Amino acid sequence: MSTVGRRRGKTVPQIRARKGGEPIVCLTAYSTSMARFLDPHVDLLLVGDSMGNVVYGMETTVGVTVEMMIAHGAAVVRGAEQACVIVDLPFGSYKESPQVAYRVGARVMAETGASGIKLEGGAEMAETIRFLTTRGIPVMGHIGLTPQSLHADGGYRAHGREQGEAAKLLADAQAIAEAGAFAIVVEGTVEDVAREITAAIPVPTIGIGASAACDGQILVIDDILGMFTDFTPKFVKRYADLGAEIAKAAAVYAADVKARRFPGPEHCFQAKKPK
Ligand code: KIV
Repeated sequence: MSTVGRRRGKTVPQIRARKGGEPIVCLTAYSTSMARFLDPHVDLLLVGDSMGNVVYGMETTVGVTVEMMIAHGAAVVRGAEQACVIVDLPFGSYKESPQVAYRVGARVMAETGASGIKLEGGAEMAETIRFLTTRGIPVMGHIGLTPQSLHADGGYRAHGREQGEAAKLLADAQAIAEAGAFAIVVEGTVEDVAREITAAIPVPTIGIGASAACDGQILVIDDILGMFTDFTPKFVKRYADLGAEIAKAAAVYAADVKARRFPGPEHCFQAKKPK
């Protein structure tokens, strides 16, 4: 079912035009309520496939489906008024061919109302990115640490430490920028390499674990709110401890229920008094 009307708010060209200017503020979101809280403060909301880990408790993002991305993407669009909303294409849904990527990307945009999609990969994805962007699907790239390739890469690690890998990252960024990506997420990448990439390409770099040299920053919302109890990477800064607050609230609620302190008279319905 299509939920789509014309979205107001920041456009893809406006995000692209921020290259080299005020840093672009991005966060992930997966629900309408969270999108409403974040919207006034960010330029871009990414419905990331990190939702597999964060929302669904999966160990990797490999099990995330297009249907999950569409359901959560539409939810975030409903809560976002001014931020640009971009939705990840999940593992296995787009690397087969540019045509397959087009069909999935078009479906995601049509059924969510998002302004574009994000996909992972370097120079090998340039042909696909060109195919999509020349047919009206804005694409955000994603290089460096790419969680969908976790199994192929053998684990999470910083990228660009070796000379050869740094050169490949730069070539990847140039290839996908040249193919039409409007911005590129650079994840888990050595600072000097992120700086070199940012200086070399005409579109914004959005860093996550890639230093302040990038044109913008993104983090996973549950990480910055302290709601993710598993491993959190070195590059995450915790801005709140909502996990502890939630546990505290649940414990007080449980104690109230057990002691019959809740519900109180103010929470109960009473029969009308006879006149
Ligand atoms: O899936 C995701 O949330 C992402 C960001 C962390 C960049 O790709």
